[in-house]
Amino acid sequence: IDGLKGELMYRGYDIAYLAENKTFIDVAYLLLNKELPNKKQYDEFKLELKKRSFIHEGMMKIFDAFPDKAHPMAILQAAVSALSAFYFDHLNMDKPEEYHEMAMRIIAKIPTIAAFSYRFSRGLPIIYPNLDRGFTENFLYMMRSYPYEHVNLRPIEVKALDTVFMLHADHEQNASTTTVRTVGSTHAHPYACIAAGIGALWGWAHGGANEGVIRQLEQIGSVENVDKYIARAKDKNDPFRLMGFGHRVYKNFDPRAKIIKKAADDVLHALGIDDPIFDIAKHLEKVALEDDYFKSRNLYPNVDFYSGIIYKALGMHLEMFTVLFAIGRLPGWIAQWKEMRQGGEPIGRPRQIYTGAKERAFVALDKR
Ligand code: SDX
Repeated sequence: IDGLKGELMYRGYDIAYLAENKTFIDVAYLLLNKELPNKKQYDEFKLELKKRSFIHEGMMKIFDAFPDKAHPMAILQAAVSALSAFYFDHLNMDKPEEYHEMAMRIIAKIPTIAAFSYRFSRGLPIIYPNLDRGFTENFLYMMRSYPYEHVNLRPIEVKALDTVFMLHADHEQNASTTTVRTVGSTHAHPYACIAAGIGALWGWAHGGANEGVIRQLEQIGSVENVDKYIARAKDKNDPFRLMGFGHRVYKNFDPRAKIIKKAADDVLHALGIDDPIFDIAKHLEKVALEDDYFKSRNLYPNVDFYSGIIYKALGMHLEMFTVLFAIGRLPGWIAQWKEMRQGGEPIGRPRQIYTGAKERAFVALDKR
C-alpha cells in the first residue's frame, strides 16, 4: 500500500491491472506462489480447488445447530473453526506440500461454507458445488439455485463479484490479517487462525463496514438528507461516523473504491437497476470530498463504500456482506500465515506501558 498516493499492489502488480486482466483465482495463486500462474498452472490450480470444494458431511450438523436468522458470520466462524477438527492433520511445516494442502482446502471450502451458512439461516435447500462451474460462478450458483432449476447467472454479475473478491484479497497488516498472524505465531492449527481472523473482520470498524454503509445509506434515505448526516459526522459530540469513509493507512482515495465504484455503475446499468441508494452514495461522496472537515483529515471513500452496492445489486442479503469480504480476504490470510510460519517468526508478544499505581503495601480488609 502507498497510503499517500492511494496505490495498492499485490506482489508488484497494480490492482488496476489485475482487476482488468486477471481473475480472483489468478490473484489467489499469485499471493500463495509469488508469481502469476501460466495456463497449465492456472488450470491445475482451478481443478484442485474444485476437487476440494465439498465439505465433510459431518459438518452439516454445525449449520443445523444455529437458530433461524443467525448472523452468517457467527456460522462461518464456527464452521471454519470446526474444520480444524475435521482436518486435524499433524502439519509438518517442513513439507511444502502440506502447506499447499492446508491453503487449497480452506480457499476451496470457504465459499461452500458461506453458501451453506446462508441457505441454512434462511431454511433453503442446500445446493452442493457444481464442478462444471468456475470458482466465483459456483458460489453464486450455490447461493441462488434450487434443486432441478436452471439458474441464470449473467457473466457481468460473475465478473463483478470476482473483481470485488480480488480487490479484497490482501491488504498488509490490517486488523484481521494481524490477528491471523498473531494466532499463527503460537503454532495453533491454521484453521483456528483463520477463524480468529473472521472474528476480527466482523467488527463495523473493519470488515463489517460494508454492511454498515448500506444500513447508513438506507437511514439517510434521500439525497436531500445527506447534508444533515454530513453535519452529524462532523459533530465531535455525535458518535455518528460515515461508514465507508476514512482509513488507517489511505490518506487519499482507496484505489479499490475507485474500481468498485465503476464496477457498481456497470452492474446497475447492465441489470437495469435504478437503485436510489447509489445516487445517495455518489452525492454523499461528492459533498464530503468538497467539505473541509473531510479534506483536512484526508477522509476518502474506502473499499467498503461501494462494495455493498454491488452485493445488493447481486441480490445478496445485508448480513452476508462481511462473509463476502472474508471469501475475498482468505487467500491473503492464508498466504500471510504461510509466510509467517515458514519464516519461523517468534510468538507475537507486544509489551505494554503500565500507568497504574506504583508498588504499595497490602491493607487488610478490615482496615480498608
Ligand atoms: C477496512 O486496515 C485495513 O486495511 C482495513 C481494510 C482492509 O482492507 O482490511 O481497508 C478494510 O476496514 C476499511 C475501513 C472500514 N471502516 C469504516 O469505514 C468505518 C468508518 N471509518 C472510521 O471508523 C475510521 O475512518 C477508521 C476506523 C477506518 C479509521 O479510524 P481512525 O484511524 O481513528 O481514523 P483517523 O485517525 O484517520 O481519524 C482522524 C479524524 C478523527 O477526527 P479528529 O479527532 O481529528 O477530530 O477523522 C475522524 C476522526 O474522528 N474520522 C471520521 C471518520 N473516520 C475518521 N469522522 C467521520 N466519519 C468517519 N468515517
